Amino acid sequence: MSITYKDADGIQGMRTAGRLAAEVLDFLTPHIKPGVTTREIDRLAAEHMKKQGSTSATLGYQPPGYPPYPASLCTSVNNVVCHGIPNDKPLKKGDIVNVDVTVIKDGWYGDTSRMFIVGEASIAARRLVNLTYEAMWHGIVRVKPGTRLGDIGHAIQQFAEGHGFSVVREFCGHGIGRRFHEEPQVLHYGKPGTLDELQPGMTFTIEPMINLGRREVKEFGNDGWTIVTKDHSLSAQWEHTVLVTETGYEVLTLSAGSPPPPAFVTTG
Ligand code: MF3
Ligand code: CO
Ligand code: CO
Repeated sequence: MSITYKDADGIQGMRTAGRLAAEVLDFLTPHIKPGVTTREIDRLAAEHMKKQGSTSATLGYQPPGYPPYPASLCTSVNNVVCHGIPNDKPLKKGDIVNVDVTVIKDGWYGDTSRMFIVGEASIAARRLVNLTYEAMWHGIVRVKPGTRLGDIGHAIQQFAEGHGFSVVREFCGHGIGRRFHEEPQVLHYGKPGTLDELQPGMTFTIEPMINLGRREVKEFGNDGWTIVTKDHSLSAQWEHTVLVTETGYEVLTLSAGSPPPPAFVTTG
């Protein structure tokens, strides 16, 4: 399969799906506090999707070589890099958790994730969370026709490594549309001027996974999904779905509760 370009109707479909995914995170935000289990967060999300008239893209999702994913979202706590499966362990003060929501609405997919700090966290944890958010936006602001995917990866890598963090290599952003994961792959590291040139109508995610320690990851346990840092260091991730417009970008996964972009973001 190749890159799909969205026409006006597709863009409208993607806008709606993106906003709904973000609104699931808005809805969950007040619930993410010490004592809540990630299973309860998953249950609340499933209920909210039902109310929205959307469905979870992750529930039952089964790429080749994987078991079916068993939940309506992913919850990745502390040293979990991605694809954490909700469970019965309560969140505790000082945890950092990524909640990653992908919904389907009228056949279109919207994919977004945010970090949450449970209670209050260490300075190091807060710094990782905030700088990972900025790293994502350093990629987003480069999105416009003519930019190459390598330019985006390079911007993210340079910023993250410049702050002493490392960029996970094994997982990347992805084209998205009427399917969850489409071409192209959007690496969060790379060389300027390399890889595909962006063109209007492309929609893809930017979702850097940034580690406080070393970049290496490994599978955890035997659920077939959970990925952790090899050195047990904290990992953070943020994700938006973006559209390449004629002149720049449009972030499709914004909602009333989205955190504001960093101060360096002046374009759209
Ligand atoms: N939402 C994730 C992404 O950003 C994918 C999760 S797949 C799952 O691409 F099956 F683990 F849910
Ligand atoms: Co994604
Ligand atoms: Co996601």
